[in-house]
Amino acid sequence: MTHGIALVGCGSAVPAASVSNALLSERVDTNDEWIRTRTGIGARRVSGPDEPLTVLAARAAEAALAHAGWSAEDLDLILLATSSPDDLFGTAPRVQAAIGANRSVAFDLTAACSGFLFALITAGQYLATGAMTRALVIGADQLSRWVDWDDRRTCVLFGDAAAAVAVEACPAESTGLLGFRMRSDGSRNGCLTLAQTAEHAPLLADLTAQRGGFAPIQMNGQEVYKFAVREVPAILAELLDATGTRADQLDWLLLHQANQRILDAVADRFQVPHGRVLSNLAHYGNTSAATIPLMLDEAVKDGRVQPGHLLASSGFGAGLSWGGALLRWSGPQG
Ligand code: UT7
Repeated sequence: MTHGIALVGCGSAVPAASVSNALLSERVDTNDEWIRTRTGIGARRVSGPDEPLTVLAARAAEAALAHAGWSAEDLDLILLATSSPDDLFGTAPRVQAAIGANRSVAFDLTAACSGFLFALITAGQYLATGAMTRALVIGADQLSRWVDWDDRRTCVLFGDAAAAVAVEACPAESTGLLGFRMRSDGSRNGCLTLAQTAEHAPLLADLTAQRGGFAPIQMNGQEVYKFAVREVPAILAELLDATGTRADQLDWLLLHQANQRILDAVADRFQVPHGRVLSNLAHYGNTSAATIPLMLDEAVKDGRVQPGHLLASSGFGAGLSWGGALLRWSGPQG
């Protein structure tokens, strides 16, 4: 590895419609008090007909390009982390076309709520080897398509959003990706799925063919909760240890936004004051691959995250998958 990776811009886009807990309780048997106390969620965005994933992701991408001071032709790579593509063959090329990033290669990466972190780390490898110079990493999901709106155990949790981070190669000593860890445990895949419905229809006399389709999201909430509060602190502790970082050196915890109780538990484990744990669950709920860049964009734009700040980030979710990264925010390079 000869180069480092600088995080130099960010941007986001959310659908116009916000659905409060009170509104949702008109549709499904739930209430604001339960959702807020159990999750910290107050509202979520739901995409309308003119807001497909490609449109949100392209808007987020353009905002990140503008923030970084780049033009779309500068990009070598667009990596789109999503589990809710507009096209199962890949949505990143649609985003590439929409923003006019003609030189770049563009492809999707699927790792559910760990997707953005895995994509950032993956993009970082192309930059670190010198194979590429500038990349846009997008996290975008519309789980509103895939929840069962009659299942109160899941539908209250999720929302739609897209957000992007611009990363570029830099000298190794000023890298913004100071360390990372990635893990998968497919033996626990059944805890959280958006699985294909294996329907077979007659094709020829002795042959059937599969008919495509997916079942709504199924989650064993308690198992996923236990997994998160065990594995996220463990992987972050490993990362801090490996990089010789003390928790009191962290400016921010930038965690996947799934449940405020998970954020608080991780903060308590490291004795990080709750004021240094970034959270926007109240406004957006769990936007899957978008949560981490959406939260980063908000905190950068309102001035909480400053150039030079150190952030411990962790994504976790379906797969099961989880990961951690120690990040230093650079901001636009002038
Ligand atoms: O992004 C991927 C990662 N995902 C996560 O990290 C999610 C992790 N899990 C969680 O955050 C929590 O487990 C949930 C928020 C999903 C659920 O919270 P919980 O405290 O584990 O609740 P529970 O599933 O044990 O349900 C407790 C009670 C049940 O009633 P009974 O059976 O005790 O009478 C549920 O039926 O709460 C009921 N309940 C609800 N009540 C009102 C479940 N959902 C709702 C609801 N409104 N929306």
